[in-house]
Amino acid sequence: VRHARARGLKSQLVGYKCPGERCSYRAAQMGCETGTRLSEGVWVPLGVAIDRPRLCHDAVAMQNIYDNEEFFTNYQVMRSARAGINEAIEQPALLSVLPCVEGLHVVDLGCGDGHLCRLLANKGAANVLGVDPSERMLTLARKRTNDPRVGYQQGFAEEVCLPNNSVNLVTSSLALHYVADLAALVKKVAGWLTRPGWFAASMEHPVVTAAPRLGHDPCIVDDYAREDKRDTTWYVDGVIKYHRRVSTIVNTLIDSGLLIERLLEPTPTPESLNARPELALHQRRPAVLVVAATKPIARDTP
Ligand SMILES: C[S@@+](CC[C@H](N)C(=O)[O-])C[C@H]1O[C@@H](n2cnc3c(N)ncnc32)[C@H](O)[C@@H]1O
Repeated sequence: VRHARARGLKSQLVGYKCPGERCSYRAAQMGCETGTRLSEGVWVPLGVAIDRPRLCHDAVAMQNIYDNEEFFTNYQVMRSARAGINEAIEQPALLSVLPCVEGLHVVDLGCGDGHLCRLLANKGAANVLGVDPSERMLTLARKRTNDPRVGYQQGFAEEVCLPNNSVNLVTSSLALHYVADLAALVKKVAGWLTRPGWFAASMEHPVVTAAPRLGHDPCIVDDYAREDKRDTTWYVDGVIKYHRRVSTIVNTLIDSGLLIERLLEPTPTPESLNARPELALHQRRPAVLVVAATKPIARDTP
């Protein structure tokens, strides 16, 4: 924090809520000012410096639509009724590409109500930090979480600042299509990850983000090559998403030095299709793209 302040940053600490003593020595070696000792030789940073004004280089690019009351209310009605693609399509696919999380230090970008954070803690993660810009979503997350290994921080993924080699697994569930500069974010994620380290994310499939105009056949893909902001209507007008081609997403990971392990375009499970025939749409065209990548122990050198 002192370091951040010296750089003129407005920072705040977020705690990895894990047992152990605080110490500044190893953390300082890692490039942050304080840390928590989990066990002999295992350290995690105690704090994440969130720098709102300075890192917000393109303020209009970051939209906190989940704090819009009308949007939030409608979104929660949909989620409570499990009427979306989350449980039926996206979550099983994302979970299927995760490594064994036992003992891992995890960051979940765009954590929403913290569902995935709690699940990963239940599966044995050492600690999970959920980051989300929406205070309404985080209020739900905090209400629904009663696990000291899970902590939350309000902020956009793009704003998060963590020491290099400090996180074992970074996850993101259906949030990256809200990020304008995916390449910059993935580069940071690759830096945060330990060797070995894992990155697993789901996002709206590019055939969906390409031409999301209401009233059009959702199976007609249009305007695919133009990688740019899309101004969409979802519960309210003006919901900003970012469209990128599949190849761009894949190459962004490759360019950051991560090794792609898996690419999924999940379809509804037979059970969910039985219960909800309307999900057949997502067999006609994929709703979600899931990517899993690793930061290997050592890169081959020629
Ligand atoms: C579709 S919800 C998914 C929430 C949660 N991951 C889940 O699967 O239930 C998308 C979430 O991404 C968050 N979000 C939007 N833009 C973001 C950004 N730039 N960085 C991080 N999270 C963002 C929203 O506030 C919202 O909570």
